[in-house]
Amino acid sequence: MAYKLADIADKPVRNVIGLISGTSMDGMDAAMVRIEGRGLGLKVKVLAYDTYEYPEEIAEAIAAVAVPDRGTTGDICRLNFWLGRLFAEAAKAIAEKAGVPMEQVDLIGSHGQTICHLPPRKGGPPLPPSLSREPSTLQIGEAEVIAELTGVTTISDFRKRDMAAGGQGAPLVPYVDYLLFHHPERNRILINIGGISNVTFLAKDASPESTLAYDAGPGNMLIDTMVRIMTMNKQRYDKDGLIARSGQVDAFLMEQLMEHPFLALEPPKSTGREEFGEKFTEQLFYKGVSRGVKPSDLIATATTFTARALAQSLQRFVLSRQTVDEIIVSGGGALNQFLMEKLSAEMGNMELRLSEEYGIPVKGKEAIAFAILANETICLAPSNLPSATGASGPRILGKISPA
Ligand SMILES: Nc1ncnc2c1ncn2[C@@H]1O[C@H](COP(=O)(O)OP(=O)(O)O)[C@@H](O)[C@H]1O
Ligand SMILES: [Mg+2]
Repeated sequence: MAYKLADIADKPVRNVIGLISGTSMDGMDAAMVRIEGRGLGLKVKVLAYDTYEYPEEIAEAIAAVAVPDRGTTGDICRLNFWLGRLFAEAAKAIAEKAGVPMEQVDLIGSHGQTICHLPPRKGGPPLPPSLSREPSTLQIGEAEVIAELTGVTTISDFRKRDMAAGGQGAPLVPYVDYLLFHHPERNRILINIGGISNVTFLAKDASPESTLAYDAGPGNMLIDTMVRIMTMNKQRYDKDGLIARSGQVDAFLMEQLMEHPFLALEPPKSTGREEFGEKFTEQLFYKGVSRGVKPSDLIATATTFTARALAQSLQRFVLSRQTVDEIIVSGGGALNQFLMEKLSAEMGNMELRLSEEYGIPVKGKEAIAFAILANETICLAPSNLPSATGASGPRILGKISPA
């Protein structure tokens, strides 16, 4: 039987799996969704979602190649295929959890694991052209392996086309935010606190093209790295924010952090491990320790900084320009209660809602988003928002690995 990709696009309803591992490198998030239609006519039902935590060995292998100039090409080459296998296993596991046989899965959208993201910088001093400034991005978790092992057509590499068109290659979730959360009578801010904090502002009268979205700064990234150093890798994150709650903010470090040049940049802007990763955080941590600051105080400071940087960006780029009716939070950081309290306090005790209330589980939102983006790609519809990424125009995102 001749196999046509168009057959998938022609179906009125598709079963789609979304896969992603974010900048936190905590594990693979998988979601199984039933999607009817596309674009603004989209209807989505979440059948299952889960996080499959990386074994420590894998987390370490990823961390080793995710620092520019550290991992060897051999390491990256092997890890790309290895992660492809793990993503395929996650896809099978989530299909089973949802009770959907693999033969009835129409499509997989896999974001993969970013190991390097070097977007073009806007607004800074002009830089001489050099290899070290070539805008580029690399996600691994080979889609050919996923398609081969699952027997399902897989779409991957969503970021590169946008970057090739002059964009930041990120953020991509705002298009999905628009489809899922746009409301005709309410101005909404969406915040996703993963390794990095992302913001989407959806004005009630906005079109997808005028949606504002940007990376606000670190999410869990500083906190996670400090917790790993403090506990010598025994703990990967500050569960429920308990360590931060037991500490005191160090005013000197706080002031220094708030001067980070990324915070002053105007949107569109995106950031990652290159700016707020291990190297940056280790330096902060040991400088603090050498001044006699306790590790729990450093984690309290990192958590408060994360909340304040995010709140200030919302103030500056959104709330100073219009009123906001709802703030909806997702991402693993939504589970850090201390961080959420600080965020609300920094915003004059504004109420924060969880995406769960709107049918989107906090830990499942990004996986759901990549299922929806794959659904757009198979319909050959553009799904970047140039207003969010800075690309020179709308583009169809991703590469197709046929079943
Ligand atoms: N119970 C919890 N308490 C505090 N933080 C949590 C909790 N659960 C998850 N997290 C945080 O969420 C992060 C993972 O969030 P996630 O949305 O997957 O981010 P990313 O997209 O960067 O992978 C973890 O690294 C951790 O910092
Ligand atoms: Mg994650």
